[in-house]
Amino acid sequence: MRTWLVTRFDDVRALLADPRFSSEGGTWGNPEFKEAGLVSGAGSVLEQSVTVVDPPAHTRLRRLAMSAFTPRRIAQWQQSVERVVTSVLDQCEARGEFDVMDDYAGPVSSAVMGEILGLRIDRHKELVDALAQAFPSDASRMEQVPEGFTRICDYAAELVAQKRQNPADDLTTALVHAREDEDRLSEEELVAMVAAMILAGSDTIRAFVGNAVLALLDHPDQRLLLLDRPDLEAGALEELLRYEGALTTALFRVTTEEMEFAGTVLPAGAPVIAALLSANRDPRQFDGPDRLDLTRAGLRHVGFGHGLHNCLGAALARLEGQAAIPALFRRFPRLVAAIPRDEVRYIENWAMRRLVRLPVRAADAEAA
Ligand code: HEM
Repeated sequence: MRTWLVTRFDDVRALLADPRFSSEGGTWGNPEFKEAGLVSGAGSVLEQSVTVVDPPAHTRLRRLAMSAFTPRRIAQWQQSVERVVTSVLDQCEARGEFDVMDDYAGPVSSAVMGEILGLRIDRHKELVDALAQAFPSDASRMEQVPEGFTRICDYAAELVAQKRQNPADDLTTALVHAREDEDRLSEEELVAMVAAMILAGSDTIRAFVGNAVLALLDHPDQRLLLLDRPDLEAGALEELLRYEGALTTALFRVTTEEMEFAGTVLPAGAPVIAALLSANRDPRQFDGPDRLDLTRAGLRHVGFGHGLHNCLGAALARLEGQAAIPALFRRFPRLVAAIPRDEVRYIENWAMRRLVRLPVRAADAEAA
């Protein structure tokens, strides 16, 4: 299928802010795009998800969702995140040797998401399995993807029904009650919103924490700097997102008309991909883009996207990253990789930059 890839920083920002590009592939995409099965969420409630609709529907959904992200709730998340990180670190310490992906980043991201949404603990393991189906680590399991998405929508529906009956102090209940004047989310919109949070907010964090840990193992000087200078933590997180964020690309955009963009003529209905991680290494924008430098000041990057659809969960993602990444190195100051560097592999997925596994040894434990 003929697809356009936008790779420069300025062009990626221009693309993501330009209303001539639509997120509604099912409406504006050319027949080839639709027939290839690339319309996200087609045939499910996810068709109504905030990620794949344009204004005015997008503006409304996004406003209702954001009303549930109050400062009080975000402050509560901080405590949940810290509690989860400490408990998962205890489990890793007991193991001595562990996999950053499956034993640290995975459990942290799914436990935090479970707590925030108010998921029953006994459903947790099944949700992790469904996420593994939705974001498989190799191409041979691609045909399971739709089932993974369906299962996640089913969990979301179950969760919404449960919180309607038994309201609690969590994000799902807040979304059930979210209102703007007389307007509220319909049942399907609610399910799509909760499913979108699960889909957008679990594996991304897992991938990002893994990438950040690998980057810091590769750069011992930067790792020491992070531990010595807690004042750098917020800026360091932005640099780690720039250097190796979780999403290689944004979701598809399609052109709503024939147009000229960045010196190229694009036909109507053309699929266009914003290459976020390429933009984040654009030498026109960043000095020495391939260098990890936690002291970079005033960093602007597109790791969370840009424009209307920019990451709705960025506050939570920042909170989790800032809690999970330095804490791992504080707990295990002599952490080392337990596989040779050239055996580190990424999953086969062009949109998600995630390590398959990253076995490490808490060298301190061994020395003791
Ligand atoms: C490090 C972790 C994360 C990264 C790198 C990330 C990245 C992104 C990016 C690049 C987009 C824009 C996609 C596009 O324009 O097509 C996005 C959108 C979104 N993200 Fe995140 N995200 C992360 C964590 C989260 C979390 C924790 C949540 C949930 C609470 C979340 C929920 C969403 C939602 C709902 C959208 C769609 C927003 C819209 O379409 O208006 N994300 N994210």
